[in-house]
Amino acid sequence: FPIRAGAYTDELVQTAKSIASPGRGILAIDESNATCGKRLDSIGLDNTESNRQAYRQLLLTTPGLGEYISGAILFEETLYQSTTDGKKFVDCLREEKIVPGIKVDKGLVPLPGSNNESWCQGLDGLASRSAQYYEQGARFAKWRTVVSIPCGPSALAVKEAAWGLARYAAISQDNGLVPIVEPEILLDGDHPIERTLEVAEHVWSEVFYYLAQNNVVFEGILLKPSMVTPGAEHKEKASPETIAKSTLKMLKRRVPPAVPGIMFLSGGQSEAEATLNLNAMNQGPNPWHVSFSYARALQNSVLKTWQGRPENFEAAQKSLLVRAKANSLAQLGRYSA
Ligand code: 13P
Repeated sequence: FPIRAGAYTDELVQTAKSIASPGRGILAIDESNATCGKRLDSIGLDNTESNRQAYRQLLLTTPGLGEYISGAILFEETLYQSTTDGKKFVDCLREEKIVPGIKVDKGLVPLPGSNNESWCQGLDGLASRSAQYYEQGARFAKWRTVVSIPCGPSALAVKEAAWGLARYAAISQDNGLVPIVEPEILLDGDHPIERTLEVAEHVWSEVFYYLAQNNVVFEGILLKPSMVTPGAEHKEKASPETIAKSTLKMLKRRVPPAVPGIMFLSGGQSEAEATLNLNAMNQGPNPWHVSFSYARALQNSVLKTWQGRPENFEAAQKSLLVRAKANSLAQLGRYSA
């Protein structure tokens, strides 16, 4: 049963499979310069190119990282950057058998005609940018759009999010990049978990409808969903078991088993919560590889340990390995706190 033939189809399937390999997940360090600036500011560092380089060097040269990490999402600046000794970051990753990835969206802007919602820019020129990123060593891409529950979400915002993701996914595949499909349903709000489940089902049904319409090869994509949790301001917190149950229920209803991997975002959960929730999700067999693509939940203690001081460099790399290993065990369903 051949899947839709394209110049890169076999390679896309292989890339997606190697990222979704047992005990491994994605390290997301694709913060835009503005967002990276916020991380650096939290430890009193200026948002300069050399401080961003120093921080990314710390993360990407961690010895042994490839045991737990199969892919790293980079911002454009990092994809073209090298260590202070002149070794390309993409080569550091390749040596650890970590697939380099690239954030390709151009960020969120207000969506006129909606309920104060936003849409994600970046389709113009995406094909030529993607071809250049492939040339530079990237093999997968990420496009993050958001859906807000307190703002509706309006039918317009959901449709726009889904259509944008599907166009991006088709363009990425056409240029050899495995698209990570990320409609982040924001944690904000005081709604119960049932409301998140309802919105997530709606969003993913639209996303898969448009992915199919755009002839996207499902075997060559990865998903980056939010977990189904109560709103951050809801009066009751949910246990990892409840979060796992509602999240898997939603995914099983909406995501075909042809999709190789589900790589969750952490979305503002603490490091411990993100690990425990992932572990709960891997207590039984799933039709897809269920893993992580965390930014904040892998970086928070690294930043705290580093503080921008050279003498803390190795300790900070060790704290990255601690989180990466914990999430690796959670991917295998074997983590205990
Ligand atoms: P968080 O894990 O911090 O939510 O980041 C998600 C993301 O999209 C980064 O690539």
